Amino acid sequence: MNESQAADMFATLLQGPLRLLEPLEQEIFRLRLEQHWEDVIRPLHILYGQQHDFNTWLHKFLHLTAAAYAARPRDLRLLDLRRAIQPDWFQQPDMIGYVAYADRFAGDLQGVAAKIPYLQELGVTYLHLMPLLQPRPGPNDGGYAVMDYRQVDQRLGSMADLAALAAQLRQNSISLCIDLVCNHTAKEHEWAQKASAGDPVYQDYYFMFPDRTLPDQYERTVREIFPEFKEGSFTYYEHIGRWVWTTFNEFQWDLNYANPAVFAEMLDIMLYLANQGVEVLRLDAVAFMWKRMGTDCENQPEAHAILQAFRALSRIAAPGLLLKAEAIVPPPQLVPYLGRGAATNKECEVAYHNVFMVMLWSSLAERKVALMTHALQQMPPIPSGTSWLTYIRCHDDIGWAVTDENAGAVGLNGYLHRSFLSDFYSGRFPNTFARGATFQFNPKNNDRRISGSLASLAGLELALAQQDWQQVDLAVRRILLLHNVMLAFGGIPLLYMGDELGLLNDDSYLQDPNLASDNRWLHRPYMNWELAAQREDWQRVNGRIFQSIVKAIQARKQLPALHAQAPAYPVWTHNDSVFGLLRESPRGRLLVLGNFSERPQPIPAYRLHEMGFTGALWDRLSGQTIPSWAELLLEPYQTLWLQQA
Ligand code: GLC
Repeated sequence: MNESQAADMFATLLQGPLRLLEPLEQEIFRLRLEQHWEDVIRPLHILYGQQHDFNTWLHKFLHLTAAAYAARPRDLRLLDLRRAIQPDWFQQPDMIGYVAYADRFAGDLQGVAAKIPYLQELGVTYLHLMPLLQPRPGPNDGGYAVMDYRQVDQRLGSMADLAALAAQLRQNSISLCIDLVCNHTAKEHEWAQKASAGDPVYQDYYFMFPDRTLPDQYERTVREIFPEFKEGSFTYYEHIGRWVWTTFNEFQWDLNYANPAVFAEMLDIMLYLANQGVEVLRLDAVAFMWKRMGTDCENQPEAHAILQAFRALSRIAAPGLLLKAEAIVPPPQLVPYLGRGAATNKECEVAYHNVFMVMLWSSLAERKVALMTHALQQMPPIPSGTSWLTYIRCHDDIGWAVTDENAGAVGLNGYLHRSFLSDFYSGRFPNTFARGATFQFNPKNNDRRISGSLASLAGLELALAQQDWQQVDLAVRRILLLHNVMLAFGGIPLLYMGDELGLLNDDSYLQDPNLASDNRWLHRPYMNWELAAQREDWQRVNGRIFQSIVKAIQARKQLPALHAQAPAYPVWTHNDSVFGLLRESPRGRLLVLGNFSERPQPIPAYRLHEMGFTGALWDRLSGQTIPSWAELLLEPYQTLWLQQA
């Protein structure tokens, strides 16, 4: 394929979807098509190059892309232009994310619009609303079992409401992110229904097997994701006489991307959602999108090719759109989702930094930062045009992503350390401050993940129950430490709804039969607006948390050194309990110090001098000036953001 083929394709599209556009608009499409041609063809060849009808499919994909381009509303075309003018918009230090369930946060989509002032008070510029497309009835894995991608969950509003909300958020400088569950559909989705009814065209949309031969072979190497919910990765359906691939729950059927028709459908949906004004799509469970016998069927090269093709095609139709990879996998497998080699800066723009999240909790339990420092030093670099999403808690459980190698390097036993963390955060470990719950115990390998809200895991629940005000103070300090380190790390920090007020575990989910079996609902509370109304009261625990986080956010926004392109180097501070992070770039230098223990901790002056921090230092978090000639003493759980004064 070469330029003349791009020109031929353009000529065909001019007769089709581009027909009614102004000549200038047609030219813009042509420029983009030429610009991205190679990036479209390369991954599509990997995926479907062997198919005899490759050209027909290529034409189909570009036809869909051109149709979406032609339908793109005016204000979004302007957005595309704005993004092209400032491609690093999402890497700016003023980016602050907020993650919420629309219903639990504000009732419905219109309710969310009414809460824009609250989000602005926090400084939010990016809002991820948890799955909101029409889910299946009954249990739906928190909305991750979608039966119609072109309808909004009726309880929340309509597609028109979603588009209106996106526009309103945008007017207030907040980008809307929603989930696109692209690895699987609900078994009630129209495609799955047709497949169930025996339609071979739609059976090919999924993975269906007449007997256990292939499922048995696959199961030798794939891991079980929800071992407590069901055994294995396949489900048998009497009425179809088939085993269906169901990685997650029984009602979530994995899509077969080896079939180009599936790719075409998802591309069309993606561009449709982009044209509603959604600015970021969180692509769910991308690691699982391609299966290969004899492997764990995760992170296959073709899964990357799918994302690269989505990205190149969406860059033609809706270049303002960002793709976010949800891949909770080890660093060597994770970093490629941000693009590497020929795909550098050409896959997803953002991805979750799972290791950073896990290390925060590990350091907090251990009161030691060696593992965190080492594990973060081992992280491969990411392309300049991409960014991490940093987070402390999210809607999911915490899985202990601590490798045996990293644990071993700092003198820990990986298995025992992971067990310790599970004991600590489920409240079993003697004298633990945490109140969490075990999620998905797997007796085959003793793996245990953890549910629980940030505040409960950080000790606030227990301290309040015991009315121990000294412990309450320490719990608040822990909550702030985690936020202050996250806000300085680099990338888009995500605040998880309620954490800004220290909301505790909520066990009301046990009353709902659709939710009761999944204790991740423990940390998916309803927003407590009564508590929020007291957020200005510094004397109250919740007010102190809220005000301190807002202050740190405001400080972050003033610091060019926190731009996502500025590298973040974990540094050894000569104190086992104090995490050090150096943000070093032409935009400025910043030394972040975080004390992960409940005791005051010293940093020797010579260590600061070695790192080039001499004379008077300015703590950008508190605004205070600190001399560097004497030993530096950090208060329990204190964070400093130091710059040369
Ligand atoms: C992602 C979601 C999780 C969901 C799973 C299956 O990991 O974050 O909540 O259960 O995908 O869709």
